[in-house]
Amino acid sequence: MKKVEDYIRSIPDFPEEGIIFRDVTSILQEADGLHLAIDEMIKLLDGVDFDVIAGAESRGFIFGVPIAYALNKPFVPVRKAGKLPCATVSKTYDLEYGSATIEMHKDSIKPGQKVVLVDDLIATGGTIEAAAQLVEELGGEVVKIVFLMELAGLHGRDKLAKYDVASVVTYEGK
Ligand code: PRP
Ligand code: MG
Repeated sequence: MKKVEDYIRSIPDFPEEGIIFRDVTSILQEADGLHLAIDEMIKLLDGVDFDVIAGAESRGFIFGVPIAYALNKPFVPVRKAGKLPCATVSKTYDLEYGSATIEMHKDSIKPGQKVVLVDDLIATGGTIEAAAQLVEELGGEVVKIVFLMELAGLHGRDKLAKYDVASVVTYEGK
């Protein structure tokens, strides 16, 4: 019986020397890999009471939407800047080099809604921390954060200490 990690291709020295890139395309291109990844992420939500799933563009969409569909919940996209057509809230966060801005529609989360955040990967945690802050700015409550993969050596969880965080596969390195 194959596990999720068996479907994840690891590419040394991409995008730069010393980095091992954990590739989700190798999961997606196998029907069994895609099923297993979604099923394992859904298991992490067992017993969690929530109203909506929010996913971070773009790889968070790949995993967030099937989970929302399977659990019959709505899906809210957290998009990169300049893509959403209506009134937005936005957050700029640090990347290793430079910064990035993400946005959500102001009406995408109703005050008091319980929100699950989904992304493919936690590295430094900057992306999902910014997404969580946007959800909270809109009055939502982040009740769980689910990743397919976690690079534990980058200590992204430290930024998310106040949240309930779970990952399907954890790599000890960076
Ligand atoms: C990647 C990945 C996570 C984020 C993790 O997204 O999909 O969203 O980086 O890194 P962090 O924990 O240090 O923030 P990326 O910004 O490369 O864009 P993509 O999802 O559109 O590929
Ligand atoms: Mg991403």
